[in-house]
Amino acid sequence: MSLANEILELKKIKKAIVLAHYYQRPEIQEIADYVGDSLGLSQKAAETDASIIVFAGVHFMAETAKILNPSKMVLLPDLDAGCSLAESCPPDTFRKFKDAHPDHLVITYINCSAEIKAMSDIVCTSSNALRIVESVPEDKPIIFAPDKNLGKYIAKQTGRDLLLWDGSCVVHEAFSIDKLLELHKANPGAVIIAHPESEEHILDVATYIGSTAGMINYVKKHPKEQFIVATEAGILHKMQQEVPDTVLIPAPAQEDNTCACSECAYMKVNTLQKLYDCLLNESPEIDVPKALAQSALLPIERMLELSK
Ligand code: 13P
Ligand code: SF4
Repeated sequence: MSLANEILELKKIKKAIVLAHYYQRPEIQEIADYVGDSLGLSQKAAETDASIIVFAGVHFMAETAKILNPSKMVLLPDLDAGCSLAESCPPDTFRKFKDAHPDHLVITYINCSAEIKAMSDIVCTSSNALRIVESVPEDKPIIFAPDKNLGKYIAKQTGRDLLLWDGSCVVHEAFSIDKLLELHKANPGAVIIAHPESEEHILDVATYIGSTAGMINYVKKHPKEQFIVATEAGILHKMQQEVPDTVLIPAPAQEDNTCACSECAYMKVNTLQKLYDCLLNESPEIDVPKALAQSALLPIERMLELSK
């Protein structure tokens, strides 16, 4: 039996569900029960009745699923699947920052640790950040963390003066604006779409800006011959399945990047073999201390409520 079929069998026997992010390897996306963006994944995690959740994504995603399902087993194929954004916001430093601005409401991007979520009023993802910031009365000052690029974009969209944490995603900051403009010059008919974790100069030349799910929906609803896609290259798998006749070009990264397009090394540490092993051995398992999980749950639930 192929490894993929063995996973499908094991899933049935153990009543497990596999949730995968769009940046996962294609072979993982293919065996997943659901592939989605951070919001879709947390909504699925909140509603599943499976006994085991295998999270094919990064640590903060699996941790969010565990916070939403304290009694369920949540597995992550490789505990090294971290995130530069989550790492850019250490809890001790963030606490001092928050304490220095006690009048501010704290909105945190879901790409952060449970400790940071526990210090937040509302969590958001790239697909609902605008709506969540807009839900806060205009006279209430807001701390937005940890992604400064998403924060800057939302500040521009809402006209609000957000107090930003200085964090960023290594993958989205690797795009080269010079190479992107050159590529666009060579393919003038191509429409540039970008993820809001990208830097301002990339977003300034994009026709559409949105979450991974938003980008996929956009190409489906706005048929064009070519798109230049400025986000992690794993998205191209699902996107191409949705628009098989469209040319999808990954946005180019700077010279010193490890790959010509932008790949998230954290997302890619998960492999089909590791996913099989973790389901078979029920390890590595995600554990969040009870008190921490309880404090982190409320801001996640507020987000889910505001996203209905
Ligand atoms: P979304 O899929 O929610 O757009 O997030 C992108 C991302 O970088 C996840 O780590
Ligand atoms: Fe984190 Fe960026 Fe990788 Fe997403 S793509 S997991 S934000 S490092």
